[in-house]
Amino acid sequence: MRARTLLLAVALVAPFGAGCRQDMHNQPKYKPLRESAFFADHRTSRPAIEGVVPRGPLRTTDAFYTGRADGQLVKLMPVTLDERLVARGQERFNIYCSPCHGRTGQGNGMIVQRGFKQPPSFHIDRLRNQVDGYFFDIMTNGFGQMPSYAPQIGEQDRWAIVAYVRALQLSEHATVNDVPDAERAKLGGRS
Ligand code: HEC
Repeated sequence: MRARTLLLAVALVAPFGAGCRQDMHNQPKYKPLRESAFFADHRTSRPAIEGVVPRGPLRTTDAFYTGRADGQLVKLMPVTLDERLVARGQERFNIYCSPCHGRTGQGNGMIVQRGFKQPPSFHIDRLRNQVDGYFFDIMTNGFGQMPSYAPQIGEQDRWAIVAYVRALQLSEHATVNDVPDAERAKLGGRS
């Protein structure tokens, strides 16, 4: 008896449940490229209306977005180089690049120690002689086994990282003459 009541209850309620689900499936919406009965040209995917502006950053073909000018990688970064930029670059580098490239750019980060392909050191002549745009380009498009970091790191931060990579490269080849006089005294003895 109890089983029959239960069966009856299920039989009565089930169609409502199914009905609900069907409602969700049949939404009055268009799927991409499906034919439209509303627009005269029957296209659901509409062309941009004249005068429309993109949301988010305006991605032009500027050097800032591409790292290139007239098709050539830019020699110098197209942003103002100051202490803040380098500090930001250091922070971003330590987050995004050091796991593979190491904190000093030697190419011995933790992921590499655990078996990922070892990248070249940033301190070899070939990379020291590269233009700024080269480093931006590698972060933007990836290189060999290294993936693109464009989805995670915005353009301004990519340039900040370029600035920091340059600082790292300089640090490995600096001489005592690069140290300001006031600081040099603190180094003790040698001049
Ligand atoms: C998951 C590990 C990994 C991360 C994270 C990573 N790289 Fe790399 N990178 C590599 C590897 C591996 C190579 C060598 C790729 C190859 O030869 O296949 C490389 C190569 C490079 C090169 C040298 C290209 C050349 O000409 O030899 C540069 C410059 C570079 N990476 C910059 C960066 C910067 C800047 C970041 C941070 C935004 C970064 N990488 C993050 C793994 C990584």
